[in-house]
Amino acid sequence: MAPIWSLLAVTALILQAIAAPYVTGNSALTSNLKDIPSVGLGTWLSDRDKVADAVEYALKAGYRHIDAAWIYKNEDKTGQGLSAALKSTKSLSRKDIWITSKLWNAHHRPKEATAAIQETLTNLAVDYLDLYLIHWPVAFVPHKGDELDKSVSLIDTWRTMENLVRANLTRYIGISNFARHEVEEILEECVICPYAHEFETHPYLQQGEFVEWHKGMGMKVIAYSPFGDTNPTYRGSHIEDDGKKKQTLLKDPFWVELAEKKNSTVAQAVLGWGLERKTVVIPKSTSKEHLAENLKAADRIVEFTFEEMEEIGKRDKKTRMNNPGRAWGVDLFSDLDDPTKLEHDEVFGDGDL
Ligand SMILES: NC(=O)c1ccc[n+]([C@@H]2O[C@H](COP(=O)([O-])OP(=O)(O)OC[C@H]3O[C@@H](n4cnc5c(N)ncnc54)[C@H](OP(=O)(O)O)[C@@H]3O)[C@@H](O)[C@H]2O)c1
Repeated sequence: MAPIWSLLAVTALILQAIAAPYVTGNSALTSNLKDIPSVGLGTWLSDRDKVADAVEYALKAGYRHIDAAWIYKNEDKTGQGLSAALKSTKSLSRKDIWITSKLWNAHHRPKEATAAIQETLTNLAVDYLDLYLIHWPVAFVPHKGDELDKSVSLIDTWRTMENLVRANLTRYIGISNFARHEVEEILEECVICPYAHEFETHPYLQQGEFVEWHKGMGMKVIAYSPFGDTNPTYRGSHIEDDGKKKQTLLKDPFWVELAEKKNSTVAQAVLGWGLERKTVVIPKSTSKEHLAENLKAADRIVEFTFEEMEEIGKRDKKTRMNNPGRAWGVDLFSDLDDPTKLEHDEVFGDGDL
């Protein structure tokens, strides 16, 4: 009979495998960061004229995580800010910073994907990414605008992503804007499995069950648009009578009162809620004041009791701000909250998401 200690060791190995079966990175690329930093800097819609300064300022102030994307058309400026911070801060090295970027829809085929990540690396002036995400579960035919590419499946694209890890171009790979059934499809087939899923979640689109499910699967959740409808291209259901955009979340009386109680700003309270539920938050800003304010949330200056979390949970509006599916002719988020309510034109203006 096997000794008891060997049975225990086998049980421990099985439990370990069950607890974290899905995270596989590239061990040839090392980092000083054990995990993705809980507060990152978003760069979608950051002005090309402002983003280099914002990134440099942010890194010097203590940010260690930048969220970029090829389609934001400002990666080169983001890279300038990164290089400037590295050059002027002796104690800071590339390995201290987590850099995420994303594979655009028109680049899902292997040749295009390899060229796209190379371009992103050149733009950002780095040798490797920490995390590369499939931006949307949608493939376009290269050089044909929004024409859908039926020849590439999500699994084909995932295999291409796995090869980018093997080619030492990124430490981890992940997904963004996937419905649950699409995440499951990847999890069933992956050899190198997703480190994280980046999707829209904030107090008005909480998706608590979906967030918890990822944790159970050993995947990080990166919460985008953490300030809900504050992104100026989100209009949708938040238009005031005079036709002006109404930014409800950061002015929501419930949140204003909660922030007062916590001696924080509303933005810090909202980010604190995201951190309390163990999501990674990536607020965008090019304002020094906001950058500093948002970073303070990482110190967990705002914490919530169980009762407060329950109360916030009751105020979920289940309102999605970002859904370009109709414009693309694709059924996005089909098994999640608010998959189809918003028309494309109502959701955002001319931003390159
Ligand atoms: N994977 C995806 O498909 C996807 C989609 C959307 C977003 N994202 C990522 O997530 C990031 C964040 O989301 P987001 O840009 O949509 O929206 P957000 O970060 O929730 O909101 C950004 C807006 O909030 C303002 N702001 C920032 N800090 C503030 C503060 N302390 N007080 C008041 N206003 C403040 C910013 O203006 P100022 O610049 O003037 O501060 C900006 O107008 C993006 O930048 C992008 O990196 C990813």
